Amino acid sequence: MLLKKSTLLSVLLVVALMFGLSFSAVAQDGEVEIFSWWTGGGEEEGLNALIELFNEQYPDVEVINATVAGGAGSNAKAVLKTRMVGGNPPDSFQVHGGAELVDTYVETGMMQPITGLLEEWGVKDKFNQQILEMSSYEGEYYSIPVNVHRSNAMFYNKSVLEENGVEPPTDLDSFVDALAELDEAGVVPLALGDTNKWPAGQIFETLLVATLGPDGYNGLWNGSTAADDPAVREALVYFDKIMEYVNDDHSALTWQDATQIMQEGEAGFNIMGDWAEGYLKQLGWTPGEEFGWMPVPGSEGTFIVVTDTFGLPKGAPNPENAKKWLKTIASVEGQDTFNPIKGSIPARLDADESKYDAYLTSAMEDFASDTLSPSIVHGSAAPEGFITAMNDTINEFITTGDVDQAFESFQANHEEYVQ
Ligand code: GAL
Repeated sequence: MLLKKSTLLSVLLVVALMFGLSFSAVAQDGEVEIFSWWTGGGEEEGLNALIELFNEQYPDVEVINATVAGGAGSNAKAVLKTRMVGGNPPDSFQVHGGAELVDTYVETGMMQPITGLLEEWGVKDKFNQQILEMSSYEGEYYSIPVNVHRSNAMFYNKSVLEENGVEPPTDLDSFVDALAELDEAGVVPLALGDTNKWPAGQIFETLLVATLGPDGYNGLWNGSTAADDPAVREALVYFDKIMEYVNDDHSALTWQDATQIMQEGEAGFNIMGDWAEGYLKQLGWTPGEEFGWMPVPGSEGTFIVVTDTFGLPKGAPNPENAKKWLKTIASVEGQDTFNPIKGSIPARLDADESKYDAYLTSAMEDFASDTLSPSIVHGSAAPEGFITAMNDTINEFITTGDVDQAFESFQANHEEYVQ
């Protein structure tokens, strides 16, 4: 009898252990798969901080952090599209507000509207409305902006400039002069890493703003500026001049490599979206101490917007958990956890400014007073077909230096994909 009792107890113990194990192995409320391309320095840390916050808020939901490396989604976007079209969506995914979201996924009927959630959580009015509108289509919202990045940002190594007696430039011509001075001094003037093509396209979009002005640039997307405007050609001429001063190995490097060579003192300037600021901080730098910043010369007064958003795909395997994720990123706490690390500013207007460093508070000020323009390269201004074609044109232009050919090709791309 005694023996039987102990046998029974052991069996019960084993069963309890098995249950215990299975309970701890599978989160009680299931999982949520979040898809992004945030694997680089600053990006990964920002995302991890957000996931940590989510884990605190929803300890019973397991986050599957599905990332595909490659800046600006150079690899992730294709993987995502295949999954979406193949009926295998993640629960939520990183997507730029504007054309990238609307043309690719909303118009094609692959997303669920989330207007009701924004209302239920009382957050609709808390966002910058111009940014939120980039996620809207026919009166409904389809994603939540977690941040606002600036594409027309330029960073510089303060000691490299000081040692070579170079002043931060004030316009495009003084920029070209500053590049020439650094070149004379034997320093790489401008760090570029365009193995994924888009960083060169991004420099070009900032020059388009500089030569066309914000209204002229915005007009390229609303029909009021023609693609053969002489200012487009002028942007190409400046681009050509500036490319004389980039590192020789630019086509073998990523954006992080380029930022890093500036940080290591091999180069003076780096034109990059302000995710580079997140990266520089990860590399141990403090804004204003080791590095300075300014809008790309000639583009002051315009804030070229890059906004990362998350939505709810139709057929998401865990829609309730996806909504929890969206609620976290829509909250002030979520935005203030992510953005100070990521190098972006919050899309909400009621964030706690004390959490943001000197660079980010200056970006917040510019954002509040500048004209906002959508980025081409980061998905907001024009459809994917145009971005690919323009990046190809610009990369070919770097090799040929043929301004007229690039100008014609820009016009042909615009006619094919935008008009
Ligand atoms: C942008 C994205 C940023 C940053 C950058 C580099 O497209 O909006 O959040 O990740 O690419 O990867």
